[in-house]
Amino acid sequence: MKLSAIVAIFGLAAFANASYINYTTVTGYFLQDEGSTNATEFIYYEENFGLINRTYPGEEDSCVLKGMSQWQRFYEEVIRLNRQAPPNVQYKVFFFGRHGDGYHNAAQTYYGTPAWNCYWAELDGNGTTTWRDAALTPAGIDQAETAHNFWQELINEQSIHTPDAYFTSPLTRCLQTANYTFNGLDFPQSSAEFKPTIKELLREGISIHTCDSRSNESYIHNLVPDWTIEYGFTEYDELWNGVTGETSDAEAVRSKKVLDEMFRELGSDKNENLFVSVTSHSGQIGSMLSVLGHRSFSLNTGAVIPVLIKAETLQETVATTCFTWSTSAHCTAPPATSVASCVCASSTPAITTPLVTVTSEPPTITAPVCYNLC
Ligand SMILES: *[C@@H]1O[C@H](CO)[C@@H](O)[C@H](O)[C@H]1NC(C)=O
Ligand SMILES: *[C@@H]1O[C@H](CO)[C@@H](O)[C@H](O)[C@H]1NC(C)=O
Ligand SMILES: *[C@@H]1O[C@H](CO)[C@@H](O)[C@H](O)[C@H]1NC(C)=O
Ligand SMILES: *[C@@H]1O[C@H](CO)[C@@H](O)[C@H](O)[C@H]1NC(C)=O
Ligand SMILES: *[C@@H]1O[C@H](CO)[C@@H](O)[C@H](O)[C@H]1NC(C)=O
Ligand SMILES: *[C@@H]1O[C@H](CO)[C@@H](O)[C@H](O)[C@H]1NC(C)=O
Repeated sequence: MKLSAIVAIFGLAAFANASYINYTTVTGYFLQDEGSTNATEFIYYEENFGLINRTYPGEEDSCVLKGMSQWQRFYEEVIRLNRQAPPNVQYKVFFFGRHGDGYHNAAQTYYGTPAWNCYWAELDGNGTTTWRDAALTPAGIDQAETAHNFWQELINEQSIHTPDAYFTSPLTRCLQTANYTFNGLDFPQSSAEFKPTIKELLREGISIHTCDSRSNESYIHNLVPDWTIEYGFTEYDELWNGVTGETSDAEAVRSKKVLDEMFRELGSDKNENLFVSVTSHSGQIGSMLSVLGHRSFSLNTGAVIPVLIKAETLQETVATTCFTWSTSAHCTAPPATSVASCVCASSTPAITTPLVTVTSEPPTITAPVCYNLC
């Protein structure tokens, strides 16, 4: 066997630590878990975040719980689940929030998806608006303020337990969304401080679209100076290259990795960090939901979905498969026709090289990246 072939084989599967966290979504608590709930029509702030009105095991015997709100009783239920679970099992509730409407969302609507994918999304903007690392539109800020008002209502009316920890994608639209949602809330006295941790791997699925590239760390730090930027975060975006994009399999590997990172950072104390806020993107939240065994549930811009997660740490080695990224062709001018795949005008044939300068900030990584030990 030639050496290169051996390298290729070892390149396929990597063995992480000897422990493996197996995630499942616990159903029966939220409407979003029910097959009968239509994601497109579901309005989280009209449905108490989807929390189902019900009693929980053991409540009949407890006088203490009488008079508590559904959210207070649910929090007690999560404590009970943790208390009764074996040592290697934790339960946590993650509130996954999709960012509000961004300038890239508005442009995709304006140009239509085929022309957007085939041409416009590969540019930084159109001269009027910019969508590279897009900011929120005024409508997007309104959506985040709706989330803000809804949290405040639940704090005031149901004494909801507010998040113990906050994580966010490093993309501008998520930083803004988390900020407008939680900054300035009148938190109950015992609440955790709103001081999010910015995590590289919570970013959107990485395609050749410029809206999937992030700004440099100095810019991010300037925008949200008091927030924590995770250890190891690089000044420049080393993942987006404008040529290759993650496949959904590759993204799922990243989703598993970032969920593991968050669980490890939240610690093993089963009385702490039970409610967690994560601000991310439609594609990335969809990928994390699938890793969590949640049914598919697409979020509208600005929407939030709570998920009751069971995390079981197994002392076993599970191989992670490494998936290479793929290239996709696009046009050098608006496409000739609006169909699902790119049909470029005959005078401007399809290419796979970027339309924008990728090397404006060092370094540019052109090799496919894989989020494990490969
Ligand atoms: C993870 O949990 C699910 C559901 O309980 C189970 O079907 C699956 O086999 C588990 N995976 C591992 C690697 O143990
Ligand atoms: C969900 O709602 C949308 C919008 O009203 C509708 O187009 C779609 O058919 C519904 N889906 C299902 C599965 O009922
Ligand atoms: C749940 O209970 C509250 C308070 O009793 C009530 O206002 C609300 O309409 C109920 N929601 C559902 C979906 O039954
Ligand atoms: C740029 O795109 C926006 C929509 O995102 C649109 O309103 C505007 O008219 C476009 N500008 C030009 C010069 O076409
Ligand atoms: C954060 O939100 C406050 C309002 O609560 C606003 O004044 C500020 O400009 C926002 N900053 C960012 C980066 O969104
Ligand atoms: C970071 O990005 C900002 C805005 O794009 C730019 O002005 C600044 O020069 C960049 N900083 C570094 C260190 O490259």
